[in-house]
Amino acid sequence: MIEIKHINLTAYDDVENLDRFNENSFINYCNKKLSGCTKHINFINKYIINNQWNGRVLEIGSGNSKLLYRLEKENLITNGGYGYEISKSRFNFAEKLKDYVNSKKVVNYNEDFLSSNLVHKELDLIIAVDIVLQLISPLKRNAESLLLKKIYKMLKKGGYFLIELWDFINILKLINLAENKELKIWEQFPKSDPFKYGLYNITLDKQKNIVWEKTFIERKNKNKSYFCNILKPYSKNIIKELLRINKFKNVNIFNRWSDNEKQVLGEYIVLARK
Ligand SMILES: C[S@@+](CC[C@H](N)C(=O)[O-])C[C@H]1O[C@@H](n2cnc3c(N)ncnc32)[C@H](O)[C@@H]1O
Repeated sequence: MIEIKHINLTAYDDVENLDRFNENSFINYCNKKLSGCTKHINFINKYIINNQWNGRVLEIGSGNSKLLYRLEKENLITNGGYGYEISKSRFNFAEKLKDYVNSKKVVNYNEDFLSSNLVHKELDLIIAVDIVLQLISPLKRNAESLLLKKIYKMLKKGGYFLIELWDFINILKLINLAENKELKIWEQFPKSDPFKYGLYNITLDKQKNIVWEKTFIERKNKNKSYFCNILKPYSKNIIKELLRINKFKNVNIFNRWSDNEKQVLGEYIVLARK
């Protein structure tokens, strides 16, 4: 029988495909991505690192694992770094990047974190940055609760859960204003990116999740690549309540990673403790 996977588990299948990079563009791209993590490192140093820190970190939806490699470089991962990334192309990219940064402590798993049977214990920190939680919650009816229980179990007492979310408040407002309840947006990427443009079509499904269809146009040969994300929107109050119900303590919300950073409308960071 053919297994039909949820679209969120296949959406990133072609992202960071190594076929689109040569040695030079790979290095430029990676250096940029790695330096983009300084804001996360500063945040983690400021709000998370304490006397009990034991250097064990897991990232859900780790992409190219840039943040885990940066944490290792800063000596913040000393006893195990684990990255779960469902996209094979991103996993392959992360493995190549691992050689480039000479990582010894980070292990990448090409698996769905939610359904994986691997067990990790006594983690200091679990990271789900850049809408990962919002991609996992729509996977099935009880995905959200299974995920939060799994995270809670893997953390040590006093361990941290760090999330980055989009509230989508403005997108939801605009969709509701649109006559056919459909939004169209585009963006242009920096020259280091193999894609030049992203064209987005946004609607709502029956559960009021956001259906975000994306078409990317390659810089070199104008080839198109399409993918779709179904995202659960979370307001600050809803995520606070959800974490509280799931036994997390000390839930704090931040509007940006650091004071020097410009606030991105709708984006926010949540830090909670076991
Ligand atoms: C928006 S990207 C963020 C990537 C990375 N955290 C970053 O900040 O660059 C979300 C990633 O989560 C991955 N992902 C989504 N659902 C997943 C799951 N259930 N298990 C593991 N990875 C997942 C996607 O393939 C995608 O690469």
